[in-house]
Amino acid sequence: PGTLKEAAAAKGRVFGAAAAQSHMGEAAYASTLDREFNQLTPENEMKWDTTEPSRNSFNFGPADQLVAHAQAQGMKIRGHTLVWHNQLPGWVGGISSRDDLLSAMRGHIAKEAGHFAGKIAYWDVVNEAFQDGSGVRRDSVFQRVIGDGYIEEAFRAARAADPTAELCYNDFNIDGRNSKSDAVYALVKDFKARGVPIDCVGLQAHLTLGNVPSDMQANMQRFADLGVDVHITELDVRMSTPADGSKLAIQANDYKKVVSACLAVSRCTVITVWGVTDKYSWVPDVFPGQGAALLFDDNYGKKPAYNASLEALGGT
Ligand code: G3I
Repeated sequence: PGTLKEAAAAKGRVFGAAAAQSHMGEAAYASTLDREFNQLTPENEMKWDTTEPSRNSFNFGPADQLVAHAQAQGMKIRGHTLVWHNQLPGWVGGISSRDDLLSAMRGHIAKEAGHFAGKIAYWDVVNEAFQDGSGVRRDSVFQRVIGDGYIEEAFRAARAADPTAELCYNDFNIDGRNSKSDAVYALVKDFKARGVPIDCVGLQAHLTLGNVPSDMQANMQRFADLGVDVHITELDVRMSTPADGSKLAIQANDYKKVVSACLAVSRCTVITVWGVTDKYSWVPDVFPGQGAALLFDDNYGKKPAYNASLEALGGT
């Protein structure tokens, strides 16, 4: 198999990319996406500030276009994301009564997950609910006004709105074992014990050069052992730019490690990179002086990390 999606399929895996509707008119962007990937995550188009910018006023236009493209290509679609503290419209942050916020959140989930029901393979129901570097819940309007129970409320609402999608909790810096991934582990264990619907955990895997956690496979396995699938949802490996041969070689080895760790865990079923090309990666905007984090360079050339990933999947 000569493409990522073919090689992954031969191993019973899905290989995806985040994509933005605003770039779909660029021929090389769309053709690279279509050739290599069989799962699409809308990078921004399904976020709350786009889909419900004012209360009860919904806009699914950009996401509908991406969904139509993915369906025409036979790609699975990852819904991203129903409840997140970022890219949240101002009106949500202004709600101060628990009942009102619960009803706004349930309403948002019912409408959005309902709109796409039957078309979504996996939903990132709740994104980034824990603080970085600890097991403490992140401060957000949901945490403050509703309390710890908002996460399970969101999962219950998502299941009701779309009974066929796999429902995931998604976060960053939970790729290896640490206090944050321990907290997510405890959450999943509790949900499983109490029958709260959850099917998968998304490890975002926004990594830095040479720093793939050595216990990533073990961490994925412990989640799998709780009875959920594990997805690598936003993989990229950033470096200081400009890239050079030695950095690209380290990066290739990093991608190989991540892909191999996934293949070693039978419930690790999806690997998704956070963008098609370095040209449009989020990294330089947020980390000035860093970038070159993905599998294709600015000119859609295959990087060493591409070849290493393909090889790790058993492709050539
Ligand atoms: O759409 C506006 C445009 O109208 C405006 O002219 C322009 C000027 O800045 O901004 C555009 O919005 C930007 C949007 O991306 C679309 O390009 C926002 O400023 C920018 O903040 C936003 O960044 C996104 C980021 O999430 C925001 O939190 C990135 O594209 C997206 O890759 C990134 O994705 C997140 C995942 O959802 C969750 N995990 C982390 C990951 C990386 O941060």
